[in-house]
Amino acid sequence: MCGIVGYIGHRQAYDILIKGLKRLEYRGYDSAGIALSDSDYRVYKCKGKVSDLEAQTKDQNINGKIGMGHTRWATHGEPNDSNAHPHKSMNGKFVIIHNGIIENYGKLKQGLEKEGYTFYSETDTEVLANLIEFYYINNRKNGNSFTPEDAVRAALNMVEGAYGLVILCEDNPGQMIAARKGSPLVIGIGKDEYFIASDATPIVEYTNSVIYLNDDDIAVIDDKGLSLKNLKNIPQKPAIHKIDLELSEIEKNGFEHYMLKEIYEQPRAIRDTYRGRLNFESKFLRLGGLHNVFKQLTEANRIIIIACGTSWHAGIVGEYLFEEFTRIPTEVEYASEFRYRNPVINKGDLVIAISQSGETADTLAAIQLAKKAGAIVIGVCNVVGSSIPRETSAGVFTHAGPEIGVASTKAFTAQVTVLTMMAMAIGQANKGLTNQEFTDLIDELYVIPDKIEKILEKSEKIKEIALKIADSTNSLYLGRGYLFPVALEGALKLKEISYIHAEGYPAAEMKHGPIALIDEKMPVIVLATKDHSYDKIVSNIQEVKARKGVIIAIVTEGDTTIKEMADYVIEVPHSDFALAPLLTVIPLQLLSYFIAVERGCNVDQPRNLAKSVTVE
Ligand code: G6P
Repeated sequence: MCGIVGYIGHRQAYDILIKGLKRLEYRGYDSAGIALSDSDYRVYKCKGKVSDLEAQTKDQNINGKIGMGHTRWATHGEPNDSNAHPHKSMNGKFVIIHNGIIENYGKLKQGLEKEGYTFYSETDTEVLANLIEFYYINNRKNGNSFTPEDAVRAALNMVEGAYGLVILCEDNPGQMIAARKGSPLVIGIGKDEYFIASDATPIVEYTNSVIYLNDDDIAVIDDKGLSLKNLKNIPQKPAIHKIDLELSEIEKNGFEHYMLKEIYEQPRAIRDTYRGRLNFESKFLRLGGLHNVFKQLTEANRIIIIACGTSWHAGIVGEYLFEEFTRIPTEVEYASEFRYRNPVINKGDLVIAISQSGETADTLAAIQLAKKAGAIVIGVCNVVGSSIPRETSAGVFTHAGPEIGVASTKAFTAQVTVLTMMAMAIGQANKGLTNQEFTDLIDELYVIPDKIEKILEKSEKIKEIALKIADSTNSLYLGRGYLFPVALEGALKLKEISYIHAEGYPAAEMKHGPIALIDEKMPVIVLATKDHSYDKIVSNIQEVKARKGVIIAIVTEGDTTIKEMADYVIEVPHSDFALAPLLTVIPLQLLSYFIAVERGCNVDQPRNLAKSVTVE
């Protein structure tokens, strides 16, 4: 949450910062701001989007070869001009931008107030700016050579919480300081220039050499280059990585919205995710990232999947897959619940953390807890270089490519693809699957992208249905077995981007409550492809119909029974039950998309949400 971008080098910083902020806007869009420095520094900031900031700075002095920018997802204090970042310290010595939460800011603020500090905003960040300044001014009073870096280190040693920070000091106008604990920061290294950002997307245009800051790192960049030390002032050796990200991957490429582009990218994302791991001809499957722990995985007593949001829904699909293919008891937990409820974790338990961003604060904390308890922890992540893959000893990347739309689409299907392959590999090894079942699954998984392409061809029809129900205020999504988590995901997609209240339910549970809501204004989206519970779902459809609900059914191609009962049907190709989530979720994504567009909602940046949730 919150996007940070910084530049120090030989170019004018303004354009780099604005472009970078636009790329990071998916991380939060409550307010935006920049600070530019040449001999002095200037701060411009406002409530709203980066485009509002651009309008505000149109006639201003935007010169400066050093600068930093911020796009905010509000934690402390409502989104307004004064709570917007950058924040200046009271005497104007420091200006900072921050992603994260300073948990003990109340206590620190009281202490600073006793020292005469006053505050113009409600933010924890302003407290930090003043704390840094306090140490700086006080330690220099008696002629001490205390540097801005020393002041930052002294202040950060007092702080509890999470931060990604960029800091400028008025006394050292040619220097930029960056620090990280909990919230991600990447430094891009160009020729005599450096870029700082919350993720690589603002950097990729200029360089592909990056350093991922570790927790407790403090980086100082000036005309001498970059120096890296930790909170204890011990020098750290920066590890330079090459990022493998093309600019075209983070652009809309002719699509009206990122979300639509990402929905259409799913066949490619799934192929990229299984490419090199699954060989259709030799019926071979190997997940290189699990090689070192594979034996332990096949012998695990229990699998615990931890995740948040859409990744948690992929986790439930994973639970069904693991239990069916490997017979290893599996449970799925919200990372936020897991970390605070003293869960039973035994040595030898396998914990799988799923996260698109690799930065979700609750998932990261849950991983740390599981590691401490002696579990084998593996990650399923999309962003290379993010915190979760670095925190886990083994894992499998989803190769969905950058996902910019706040509502997750291609990351979900790529996660389900990875979980399917993991369950298949373990099932093959521990004989949970027969050889025939295993090879049939390989064949089925291989053609899933082609089947998704066929569903995407139906988007006009899905749009027509969307227009019919776009005025609804409530909706219900029903599914059984593997399609229950898809119902949850479909409902989440709709509420996230269209603000229509939507609930996902196991179809049989409908009669224990939600059925009371059904009337002729209530769309009920039923996942009803042909599987072993087909007859049961047909009965559930009858129950909805008897109460005059509007039925939109996702059915297997050629189905005639449900066609006669439902108001609208969307056909998907036949597949193995276990792979049906990869197909049935596609019409639900498109339905939500078209409804949200029809309602005039900001599809890529829905209100109050952010893509990367780095606060708990
Ligand atoms: C936010 C995003 C969701 C995402 C969830 C978990 O809520 O808006 O799309 O599913 O975080 O994020 P992760 O990056 O851990 O998958």
